[in-house]
Amino acid sequence: MGVVMSAVTHIPVLIQETIEALAVQPGGRAVDCTLGAGGHAAAILESSSPGGQLLGIDADPEAIKVAKERLAAYGGSALLVNENFINLQAICFRHDFYPVHGILFDLGLSSLQLDSTGRGFSFQRDAPLDMRLSPSQQVTAADIVNTFSEGELAHLIRRYGEEGYSRQIARSIVTERPIRTTLQLARIIEGAIPRRDRINPATKTFQALRIAVNRELEHLETALRQAVDLLGFEGRLVVISYHSLDDRIVKQFMHREAKDCICPPEIPSCVCGHKASLKLINRRIITPSLAEVKLNPRSRSARLRAVERIIASGGYEQTAEKMYFSMAGDGGIWRRPALLKKFRMTFSLS
Ligand SMILES: C[S@@+](CC[C@H](N)C(=O)[O-])C[C@H]1O[C@@H](n2cnc3c(N)ncnc32)[C@H](O)[C@@H]1O
Repeated sequence: MGVVMSAVTHIPVLIQETIEALAVQPGGRAVDCTLGAGGHAAAILESSSPGGQLLGIDADPEAIKVAKERLAAYGGSALLVNENFINLQAICFRHDFYPVHGILFDLGLSSLQLDSTGRGFSFQRDAPLDMRLSPSQQVTAADIVNTFSEGELAHLIRRYGEEGYSRQIARSIVTERPIRTTLQLARIIEGAIPRRDRINPATKTFQALRIAVNRELEHLETALRQAVDLLGFEGRLVVISYHSLDDRIVKQFMHREAKDCICPPEIPSCVCGHKASLKLINRRIITPSLAEVKLNPRSRSARLRAVERIIASGGYEQTAEKMYFSMAGDGGIWRRPALLKKFRMTFSLS
């Protein structure tokens, strides 16, 4: 992909807040679903030492390479997997890595990806319009820009970029195509809409294309559902998002799963049978301090939300999970896959 990446160029966001929200303990096991340069992963491993284990996932093979170097000092405590987190549950089952104490999503792109040449994520660097997180994906941003109808483009730019000038931009794209590079697209957008203060005119369209290419919203929603099932008793799920579309999905998901009933308000008594599986840890979102934003301007839009897995009353499943975790401190059953499987079968957990 013609990329030079180095871990030192990505500063992890809300690092202390993340460790606190995950309630990382010595001997804990955690999944970092968005490994990136391994900044959060290193802090998790540090705080869960001795005996902590981390499964790190990233769709981008370049990120895995960088993180591998950064986490080399932790040896076998860190297991890194180059895959999309849409397969979170399958990955954890494959590696017998469940239940877990903590799961982290630090969404979006790393500075390594934004600053790298050749990936097409940034409108400030000329590159082919690619924007795929992984080279194994089929559809690039150029495919979308050059094949979608004007109506489809306008819809995509409005929906994923929340761009008020979506129709004007779509019209200019269709008139000017074929469009091959980031700067060519950025210039077309600049010519299509009035100048706005501060934000670059291409910002929202680039966000929309990246979300569409990587199917970010669908993947997030699916992975959140899988994450809850992987959490053991009192396990924590922490999500850092950087734009309102992601944050809305996270907020709605967490609030829904923290309710005992999700019936519409006009229904007088509950018919849904929904039981809360999560408890909100922070009712208000956690955002970076002014000092952090000054040090790392890219952190300015970060919003952290955290929840804890709770156990509904009754049921073998919950009891079994509680037992795994009460034994975890002794290096107990949850570290031994064969025993764990037997235990799961006894309680019909598979
Ligand atoms: C903001 S960065 C994470 C930075 C990391 N926390 C650190 O401290 O270095 C987000 C990472 O998530 C990865 N990513 C985004 N969506 C993904 C997905 N659906 N599956 C796997 N990885 C994904 C990106 O490739 C990127 O490396």
